[in-house]
Amino acid sequence: MDVIRVEGGHDVTGEVRVEGAKNSALKLMAATIMASGTTTLTNVPNIADVHVMGKVLKNIGAKIEVVNEHELKIDTSGVDSWETPYHLVAQMRASTAVLGPLLSRFGKAVVAMPGGCNIGARKIDMHILGLEALGVEFKVDHGNIYASAPHGLVGDTVTLSFASVGATENLMMASVFARGTTTIDNAAREPEIVDLANMLNEMGAKVSGAGSPVIEVEGVSELHPVTHEVVGDRIEAGTFLAIGALTGSPVTVRGFNPTHLGLVLKKFEQMGASVEREARACTVWRDRPLAPTDIQTLPFPGFPTDMQAQTMCLLALAKGSCVITENVFENRFMFASELSRMGADIVIEGHHAIVHGVEGFSGAQVRSPDLRGGAALVMAGLVADGVTTVSDIHHIDRGYEGFVEKLSSLGARIERTTVADEDDDITM
Ligand code: EPZ
Repeated sequence: MDVIRVEGGHDVTGEVRVEGAKNSALKLMAATIMASGTTTLTNVPNIADVHVMGKVLKNIGAKIEVVNEHELKIDTSGVDSWETPYHLVAQMRASTAVLGPLLSRFGKAVVAMPGGCNIGARKIDMHILGLEALGVEFKVDHGNIYASAPHGLVGDTVTLSFASVGATENLMMASVFARGTTTIDNAAREPEIVDLANMLNEMGAKVSGAGSPVIEVEGVSELHPVTHEVVGDRIEAGTFLAIGALTGSPVTVRGFNPTHLGLVLKKFEQMGASVEREARACTVWRDRPLAPTDIQTLPFPGFPTDMQAQTMCLLALAKGSCVITENVFENRFMFASELSRMGADIVIEGHHAIVHGVEGFSGAQVRSPDLRGGAALVMAGLVADGVTTVSDIHHIDRGYEGFVEKLSSLGARIERTTVADEDDDITM
């Protein structure tokens, strides 16, 4: 099995360029279903989840040309199926992002009910409730969701009970061809939502209000293919900038918009880091002790849950105690138990993690619990005493392109290596 081995205590500093956002690229790929023809996506991250979404699209008849590792030409003129099988949805929950586009194109869709994952139940009840308001009828049978709009999709007002990113995206895409206007109230405001709305409008849609809590979609009759650049990945950027706050040596990240990390960078400053913001880059360093600060994860522009583990890694070394409250997912503290194996002092009480700062981490064998927790464990290894070995790194591969290579370019003593799988049977 592949593991990441990192030797702590070396200076980590310099400049990296982040890729396009995973949490935008996957939905942009799904949206190409609605514009028959060839859409070109640039600045696409070369990550496992993009490969899975490629399989989802090919499975329904799309053709994908990999122009280079960051550019895809997706021809959806031959899409002739509206079914997404379980094995692909099980691999990646974001496969459900094809629900809205398939309903828009065919008036029906069959998508496997997504299972839970390490961070929570990951239900899609809000997607279903919202789509029903637009005239979609659902049947769930043998683990599959059968969706159909026998009388077509009709615009209406949908108020989300939580500013769900996925539900906002599916509703936005499902309403593009709906008769009349759809209003999505309490919509998610993430930059990836804005990126998707921008591409839909470039294709000929009429979406307004993306980035605000109220999105309006005026139905149109068709969309045309375009060329679109994926927005820079603010979470990949935040992960590398957190390393600048962690070790203290300056880390500069290019290829993203620092306003997409507003509260995160303010929290880094409250923790004693220095932040220099440019239009498409940011530098973080620290020359005073890490100070504790409380964190509450919330939908954008609140503190992003996808930066919770990386920030916990910092707070675990702060001079004092603080509380991290996870309001978005019901089970996103597994990282804390792995970090405790490295010497962190963290007490979990429901949605709260009480973090008591310690002097330092000691290198250990740890397992990546999920995508962001895995990256944060590697971060901890950079400053731990001795060697840290992180396993289950397929989680990291889902959302970080060239994570080891980028860290090496910053001076980290890190390698990806293969170790005998402890499950290997002994031969008798
Ligand atoms: C997206 O997931 C991201 N994934 C997540 O990033 C991110 O953490 C999350 O948004 C919040 O920002 C992608 O974009 C591929 P939600 P999504 O719908 O759309 C519950 C990463 O690390 N909920 O905003 O699934 C849900 O269970 C990943 O890159 C319902 O109960 O997030 C969760 O607790 C992790 N019913 C909360 O709402 C629903 O119908 C937020 O979910 C929908 C969601």
